[in-house]
Amino acid sequence: MVKNNLNKRVIAVVGKGGTGKTITTALMAKIIARSKKYKLFLIDADPAMAHLARVLGLDVSKTLEDIRDEIIEVAGRKITEEKEEMVRTLDYKVFDALVEGKEFSLLAMGRPEGPGCFCPANVLLRKSIEVLSKYFDIMLIDCEAGLEHINRKVIRNIDTLIMVSDSTIRGVQTAEAINKVSEKFTKSKNTGLVINRVKNSAETIQKYAEKVGLKILGLIPEDPYITELDNSGGTLKDLPEDSPTIRAVEKIIKNIGIEL
Ligand SMILES: Nc1ncnc2c1ncn2[C@@H]1O[C@H](COP(=O)(O)OP(=O)(O)O)[C@@H](O)[C@H]1O
Ligand SMILES: [Mg+2]
Repeated sequence: MVKNNLNKRVIAVVGKGGTGKTITTALMAKIIARSKKYKLFLIDADPAMAHLARVLGLDVSKTLEDIRDEIIEVAGRKITEEKEEMVRTLDYKVFDALVEGKEFSLLAMGRPEGPGCFCPANVLLRKSIEVLSKYFDIMLIDCEAGLEHINRKVIRNIDTLIMVSDSTIRGVQTAEAINKVSEKFTKSKNTGLVINRVKNSAETIQKYAEKVGLKILGLIPEDPYITELDNSGGTLKDLPEDSPTIRAVEKIIKNIGIEL
C-alpha cells in the first residue's frame, strides 16, 4: 500500500536545544508508520544529542561519520583512483549506513570527532538527503539545535519546516529568527510552529506567535509518560495509543497535509 511518489515530502524539524525536536520527530514517525501508507525515512541529524534511534528503540551500528572516516582514510592515502572510486560509490556507502527497521529506515549523522577532510559532515549530510529522498515517500529530519543546517543550506530542499518551541516567549522568538532565515535558505512552502510541553493553556504564547506572523501547526501537552522515558530509558513504542499527546501529533501531521 505504498503511495507513489507524486506526494513526496521532505520535512525538517528545527528549534532551540531541548525544546522537543527529537520527541516530536519520533512521535510523528510512530504515527505515520502506523498508517502503513508511506515509505518513511528518518535522519538523526543532531551530532550533539543523537538519540532519535534510542527513543524509537532502534540500534545504530554505523553512522554517516563512520563513512566520513573511511573517506578521510582514503584521502590520506592520496591514491587518485581510490578517491574517485570513493566519490562514485558514495550513494552505495550511504545506503550501507542505513538502519532498516520494520516500519521505517533511519540514518544517523554521528558525532564528528576526527580531523576535517574534503568531505565535511554537513556536505555529506546534504548529499545523503539528496540521494535518499528519491527512495522514500516521507523523509523526516531531526535537525541540530539552532540555525546551522538552514544557514549552510543542508536542508535547502525541504518542503516543510516544523519549528518546535517550548512554552516560552524565548522559544517562540527563536522560531521567529528561524522563520526569517528559512525563507531565504530553504524551499519550504509549509513552515509552522509547534508549541511543546503545554501545561494548562498556551494562550499568551499563541497570541504572541500569531502577532509575529508564525503559523501554528499545533500544541503538544506536557506528558508525564515522556518524562518517565527519561528516567527509565524506555522507548516511545509503548506510549498509549489514546494519549492526548498522540492525538495532538496526529493533528499536526494532518495540518501539514499528510493523510493518515
Ligand atoms: N511533551 C513533553 N512532555 C514531557 N517531556 C518532554 C516533552 N517533550 C520533550 N520532553 C523532554 O524534554 C527533553 C528534551 O526533548 P528532546 O526531544 O530531546 O529535545 P531536542 O531534541 O529539541 O533537544 C527530553 O528530556 C524530553 O524527554
Ligand atoms: Mg534532539
